[in-house]
Amino acid sequence: MLIRRPSELAPSDITSPALYARRREFLQLSAGLALATALPASAKLGPGKASTLSTTETPTPLKHVAGYNNFYEFGTDKEDPAQYAHKLRTTPWTVSIEGLVKKPKTLGIEDILKLAPLEERIYRLRCVEGWSMVIPWLGFPVSTLLKQVEPLGNAKYVEFITAVQPDTMPGVRRSVLDWPYIEGLRLDEAMHPLAIMAVGLYGDTLPNQNGAPLRLVVPWKYGFKSGKSIVKIRFTDKEPTTSWMKTAPQEYGFYSNVNPDVNHPRWSQATERRIGEFSKRKTLPFNGYAEQVASLYTGMDLRKNF
Ligand code: MTE
Repeated sequence: MLIRRPSELAPSDITSPALYARRREFLQLSAGLALATALPASAKLGPGKASTLSTTETPTPLKHVAGYNNFYEFGTDKEDPAQYAHKLRTTPWTVSIEGLVKKPKTLGIEDILKLAPLEERIYRLRCVEGWSMVIPWLGFPVSTLLKQVEPLGNAKYVEFITAVQPDTMPGVRRSVLDWPYIEGLRLDEAMHPLAIMAVGLYGDTLPNQNGAPLRLVVPWKYGFKSGKSIVKIRFTDKEPTTSWMKTAPQEYGFYSNVNPDVNHPRWSQATERRIGEFSKRKTLPFNGYAEQVASLYTGMDLRKNF
């Protein structure tokens, strides 16, 4: 349903040859991991419409994007998710959207895929640990999903709750984090056009280790704000306590906007290393998206609200 014939494509719809070379790399990689066979046929994705919100920086090679991950449900080593996440059951998959809304709904992933045309968004991802990547996501604005349930006037925050599958996720047997993994945004942050729900990357379905079948991507915040494998979305009037805030409140705040001037208590955030490169580069305020998002925080002291 999402794959269009070549005659229907405008030049701007066509993904660059470099991306397609990487897509081939992905298919080779995923053949080995049997990812493609684990996915429902309906989940095969097309290239996606290119977005003006994309960075022109070179995407990080797929072997790093899908091979160097944080997904603690599958273990805390960077290689654990690629090794173990093939067991994650991604079908059937539903997402319930509830709380302070007029029309609570439970949607199947197939219904979610029909809500909007997919766009390719090439975004920088900056991890709080000091590394970064550039990832060509396929997705659609978070606002498209949230509008389905008609949020009430007193809804101020959105909580994103992710899957717990004890039989497929070896990591949830350990109490490194409080499961399920929970993230949260202020409602206006979640409705911002840069915030997307990703269902794919590099022109194909999301690898399980990157949060299949549906994950949040908020490019101006540290990577951990982007919850993977979401099963529930709840609108609230109180700031949600996220998993990282519960585990280490002195280290991880609710906002977690990328900020080179606010150090993590144990290390600097002034620079970052792009995965696959050797030298470090300067970290930019809001991960380089200040022009688009700084106005969301007018009047706030971002040293206190880290
Ligand atoms: N989502 C879940 N459910 N579990 C996790 O452990 N880790 C977060 C975030 N989303 C995490 C998660 C962190 S710390 C980062 S940096 C990003 O996912 C990493 O995304 P990537 O592996 O796709 O690069």
